[in-house]
Amino acid sequence: MDWLVVNFFPVHRYISSPVHRFTCLPDTQTNLTKYLNMRKKIVAGNWKMNKSFAEAEELITEIADALDEIELTNTEVVLCPPALYIEMATDVAFESNFKVGAQNIYPEDAGAFTGEISPLMLKELNVGYCIIGHSERRKYFNETNEFLARKVDALLKHDMCPIFCCGEVLPEREANQHFSVVTSQVVEGLFHLPVEAFRNVVIAYEPVWAIGTGVTATKEQAQEMHAFIRGLIAGKYDEQTASDTTILYGGSCNDKNAAELFAQPDVDGGLIGGASLKSEEFLKIITSL
Ligand code: PGA
Repeated sequence: MDWLVVNFFPVHRYISSPVHRFTCLPDTQTNLTKYLNMRKKIVAGNWKMNKSFAEAEELITEIADALDEIELTNTEVVLCPPALYIEMATDVAFESNFKVGAQNIYPEDAGAFTGEISPLMLKELNVGYCIIGHSERRKYFNETNEFLARKVDALLKHDMCPIFCCGEVLPEREANQHFSVVTSQVVEGLFHLPVEAFRNVVIAYEPVWAIGTGVTATKEQAQEMHAFIRGLIAGKYDEQTASDTTILYGGSCNDKNAAELFAQPDVDGGLIGGASLKSEEFLKIITSL
């Protein structure tokens, strides 16, 4: 496809002007319910701790340029770069067709929390989304469901959308515990929310054994768990809320397998790690949706 021929001469298309941030917030980021009260499709790129600033700038510019040529209907593209690149990313996003997400927050507005970033700081930079409960944070930073529930609350308080990750490790799947593990994560991380707040949450099912391994869940495994999660939501809240909730798949989703995963009735897009670091591959995933 022609639009996939990416311009490799990065244009400095962002203007690092605070005016952009404080005067003309896109209404999609000031009124979440307006754009999340129907089942939106999302492709989100989780860059994790990758890229130099120059590489990040180049990748974002390539994606922004390509997105200029694509009409996205009811589909959101979200880029989640490392925190230090968020300001650059939101400046590009201001004139482009994607939103910016963070990879983490601390669940307090301000205070003596050395090294942490507050939701207010992200809000000021016009961030719309934040990944919460990624398995790497659960594993390396011992984040519990209880702590994650606080992060969810902190984001929603400031009108940002949590992309709440859940998923089982391999021994849990092998022991047939994957449904109970995901149930605990979703119940303890999210089900304290009243329905109006819950409707602003995006869920990402990411089987841990598929993350960064090159092993992807089969389309049947993904569909089965997504339908199960939707059933949990219907049981806790109501059918309409379950039907309106965006549930993403994550775990070695790439340009080869995205189309068949996204074709599943309960898979509403993807949270993409490794494959979001190359513009051509990421763009192919977006157009698979
Ligand atoms: P992966 O990562 O696509 O590299 O497997 C997904 C994720 O961790 O969100």
